[in-house]
Amino acid sequence: MSRRSAPGPCDARPVPGRRAGAGRALAAALLAAAAAGSALAQPAEPPGKARARACAACHGPLGLSVLPNAPHLAGQPEIYLVEQLKAYRSGRRQHEVMSVIARPLGDAEIAELAAYYASLQIEVKETR
Ligand code: HEC
Repeated sequence: MSRRSAPGPCDARPVPGRRAGAGRALAAALLAAAAAGSALAQPAEPPGKARARACAACHGPLGLSVLPNAPHLAGQPEIYLVEQLKAYRSGRRQHEVMSVIARPLGDAEIAELAAYYASLQIEVKETR
């Protein structure tokens, strides 16, 4: 059975010749209210999450690495992540990719990235 067989409330079409101004204004007001409401209802995305999109190609969208030679970042201690990123940035730790990626990062960006990855919870299971 087709879902389109009977006209439903969503199939209402504007009647030709009838002015829809008031209805349109009301709909716009309702849409604006709904948009404002949903913006308030959604918790703000942590700043590190947006930055971490630049890392996802190798470290995975949730910090579980998608490259065999890239380590998982999810659930790592925050202080460790901060130290490693600063070590790449200063040259104390060197890697052809990570040294380039860490060089432009400021302390605040490093802190946000480390806090985000440290906040991701991981689960470990023994397989035997
Ligand atoms: C092109 C792939 C790639 C991208 C993009 C990338 N990484 Fe990496 N990352 C690696 C690889 C490979 C390593 C392992 C490097 C090594 O052996 O020192 C690594 C290592 C790290 C480490 C050290 C982890 C540990 O366990 O010692 C941290 C921290 C890290 N990356 C953070 C980031 C952050 C934050 C971003 C985004 C701003 C990022 N990476 C983007 C490939 C990448």
